[in-house]
Amino acid sequence: MTDTPNHLTIVDHPLVQHKLTIMRDKTTSTAAFRQLLREISQLLAYEVTRGLPMTTKRVETPMQEMDAPTLDGKKLALISILRAGNGLMDGVLELIPSARVGFVGLYRDEETLQPVQYYFKVPEAMEDRLVIAVDPMLATGNSSVAAINLLKEAGATNIIFLCLLASPEGVATMKAAHPDVRIVTASLDEALNEKGYIIPGLGDAGDRMFGTK
Ligand code: URA
Repeated sequence: MTDTPNHLTIVDHPLVQHKLTIMRDKTTSTAAFRQLLREISQLLAYEVTRGLPMTTKRVETPMQEMDAPTLDGKKLALISILRAGNGLMDGVLELIPSARVGFVGLYRDEETLQPVQYYFKVPEAMEDRLVIAVDPMLATGNSSVAAINLLKEAGATNIIFLCLLASPEGVATMKAAHPDVRIVTASLDEALNEKGYIIPGLGDAGDRMFGTK
């Protein structure tokens, strides 16, 4: 795991990087892409949750009583930024099945090019939870910033943004708008192209995971 000073964590674990390489390959099938995304998201979730607060509880093993470590605080909130966020969320939920789940739906207005909200539903007491917002691709950063704005309006103060790939432009946009939000990613890629795709990237994450074009 590489932590950079600007709150960017790159999960450079060999398994993550190996799986990501297969996902980038354009000949990888939809089924394999989906399965790899599930596996990688669990590995990313493992890193994201490394700092969760702990307490102890008294348990009785078959041998004796002990104070054993257990998670403290309110259940964390997992927020999928639709639609591609759902692919990343599934695997994270397998690892943290008690997480509360929310959704943010945004589309881009073709005239203003600004993100417009079409769906928003998040758990209650957002201010008391670690909020993990998931979207596989941090590309321009515009919709990610808009999603984080909405989460903060709903009360969230402790937010991690989890993605598979990030562009330097997306990281800069997020950092400028939300310097308090830690970004966790499997790779910081080279650039964005003129259409807003990450280069070298893996193409359209939603299309590749859902088999659409
Ligand atoms: N969204 C994607 O799915 N892919 C990109 O490269 C950029 C945004």
